[in-house]
Amino acid sequence: MLVNYSNLTIRNATTADAEQLALWWSDGKVMAHAGFPNGLGQSAQSIADNLKGDRDDVHRRLILEINQVPVGEMSYSNLGDGVAEIGIKICDFSAQNKGSGKLFLSMLIRTLYNDLGFTKIILDTNLNNHRAQHVYEQLGFRKVRIRENAWTNQVGELQSSVDYELSPQGFRDCTK
Ligand SMILES: CC(C)(COP(=O)(O)OP(=O)(O)OC[C@H]1O[C@@H](n2cnc3c(N)ncnc32)[C@H](O)[C@@H]1OP(=O)(O)O)[C@@H](O)C(=O)NCCC(=O)NCCS
Repeated sequence: MLVNYSNLTIRNATTADAEQLALWWSDGKVMAHAGFPNGLGQSAQSIADNLKGDRDDVHRRLILEINQVPVGEMSYSNLGDGVAEIGIKICDFSAQNKGSGKLFLSMLIRTLYNDLGFTKIILDTNLNNHRAQHVYEQLGFRKVRIRENAWTNQVGELQSSVDYELSPQGFRDCTK
């Protein structure tokens, strides 16, 4: 995938991105929202090995760039029956909260619907993540359920999640 909008780019992650991904994923501040407040600790080699298995029709790890500088990552997975599950992480804190997240998500969602043929997009987020929920609802995602105390994070704290889904009809593209 290669999608450009203004100064934003979404591109496929390659093995050349493994060192950067390892740095981000080892940072507990970046990974706390995903349940890893001590970081993931996955080696660059292991990340590179995983990236080699990415395929457009199955799963892709994507790199987000602003002015050609990597600031974070996204991913999508094909769950079958036209459903894609997505995730986003703007890892560079200085790039958060400046309007890019809703644009990157719009770029990805438009591509998943128009170019890759998906008909439903799902995701989940931590119930504490009010910013992410605000952005998802701006884009038209519908809250499907809240899962209270459904899982424990890396340090044994119970966490709650919100499940969202988006239909092509409900999508509000923030790039328009
Ligand atoms: C969540 C994330 C993708 C959003 O992208 P972003 O570029 O930071 O967000 P944007 O600037 O596009 O939009 C932020 C919106 O949330 C609002 N917001 C900010 N903090 C908020 C909060 N605590 N509660 C509610 N809304 C909040 C902003 O006012 C803005 O809304 P507006 O456009 O109506 O004014 C990004 O912050 C990120 O990757 N965070 C770290 C990882 C993460 O949380 N990933 C999602 C987990 S599933």
